[in-house]
Amino acid sequence: MKFATRAVFSLCLVGGSICSAGADDLRSRTLRNAAITNGLIPAEGTHVSAPEPLIQVGKKLFESRLLSLAEDTACASCHLDKFGSADGLPIAIGTEGEGIGAERVIRGGDIIPRNVLPLWGRGSKGFDVLFWDGKVKQTDSSIHSQFGDEAPSEDPLTVAVHLPPVEIGEMLIDNKSTLELQTETVETANSVYEVLIERVREDPELGVALATAQEVSVAKLEFSHAAEAIAAFIRTNFRVKPTRLHDFVFRDGVLTPQAIKGGLIFYGKGNCVACHNGPYFSDMEFHAIASPQIGFGKNGFGVDYGRFNVTLDVSDRYLFRTPPLYNVAKTAPYMHSGSLPDLEDAIRTHYDPLLFTNPEGMTSLERVDFYDRLKAWSQESISGIVLDDDEITAVLRFLTTLNYESDQPIEVVD
Ligand code: HEC
Ligand code: HEC
Repeated sequence: MKFATRAVFSLCLVGGSICSAGADDLRSRTLRNAAITNGLIPAEGTHVSAPEPLIQVGKKLFESRLLSLAEDTACASCHLDKFGSADGLPIAIGTEGEGIGAERVIRGGDIIPRNVLPLWGRGSKGFDVLFWDGKVKQTDSSIHSQFGDEAPSEDPLTVAVHLPPVEIGEMLIDNKSTLELQTETVETANSVYEVLIERVREDPELGVALATAQEVSVAKLEFSHAAEAIAAFIRTNFRVKPTRLHDFVFRDGVLTPQAIKGGLIFYGKGNCVACHNGPYFSDMEFHAIASPQIGFGKNGFGVDYGRFNVTLDVSDRYLFRTPPLYNVAKTAPYMHSGSLPDLEDAIRTHYDPLLFTNPEGMTSLERVDFYDRLKAWSQESISGIVLDDDEITAVLRFLTTLNYESDQPIEVVD
């Protein structure tokens, strides 16, 4: 066995970047085993089916501005094909925003302090923690969310779909005439839902299509019927499809030597898999990466306490849900505040947080915040690892093997 291994490596050296078949076999086998051992399953194994009429009306609702109180914002204003189902911006611009991408920044609108999350694999089997801070999370039989005991659905994605239309600034306009809505209680949310679903009932196309798909009369339609349709669309349109990595692991497909090298680092030296594991490359847990914080932050003055905002447990400060990695090459900028435009830098910041921090420009408060984040990061399995530029490039090649396309193009709503 020892002899075989040595022979493999010498052949690989002689062959340079094109290793001999024998060498490739050993590295390929190792990568295949690592992927399977760490939770990769065939794409179809993650799918949850939904009825076609519900998916089709869900797509129309996803693209409709009717679901924002001021009728100016659709889900598709921020979740766009062009940016891998995100918006191409560091932090999102919500109601009163116009246009897409950079144009949206120039024209203004309400700012959301977090980077838009893409939708790949959301609503599929076992994908039960949603948003950067996990504000919707399924545990055993119950769903934790802002709705408390009154969760509008037993499906975490359907509960999540209920939130953007009642999130101030995101789809709910933030001005004097809506001040009474800013109490953010379940009752005020319900009153907004009633206004929104009434519009759907009155819309000649959407009302009938949704009622038919849900097998109720138009008069009996509730907001949760619309949310279920949008969830059906998301879980179908953005479902995981066989990627180059799936073909390689499950069907003897081929990867370039660089991608294989990157994969071996991902599962080996880089220890990325400690957190980015399972069928979606996320452990669905919360970790501290001390990535640079930009913008006002969820907690104001450039601070985002992440998971703490949901649990109010001090040990959860600065933790964020491990992001899944499908199509990650398309969803720049990266991290919870969108502070890093390059994928290489998103990887670098994991083990070298100081690289993107200039202490000279910081106030004492910002420094204290940074020390706290470093403290949390130092407990994580990533601290103490270093990758060189070649290794990072290889990991990048590996990550691009996770690209695929959605089923249907989203109608651009600008
Ligand atoms: C103003 C831009 C904007 C609009 C409009 C918007 N989103 Fe989002 N979406 C975001 C941002 C930002 C996040 C991440 C927020 C967070 O985690 O704190 C997000 C996160 C999500 C998530 C969680 C994904 C995950 O990985 O957990 C889902 C699901 C989602 N949005 C669906 C929708 C739906 C459905 C609509 C329409 C009803 C919608 N969004 C409208 C910006 C937007
Ligand atoms: C200790 C857990 C952990 C490890 C280990 C880890 N990550 Fe992450 N990763 C995270 C978390 C948490 C975030 C989000 C942090 C934030 O937003 O501040 C993240 C963010 C990312 C992002 C940006 C995704 C996006 O949509 O913004 C990429 C890319 C990424 N990780 C790749 C890697 C690679 C490659 C490795 C190995 C070199 C790695 N990660 C190791 C937990 C981890």
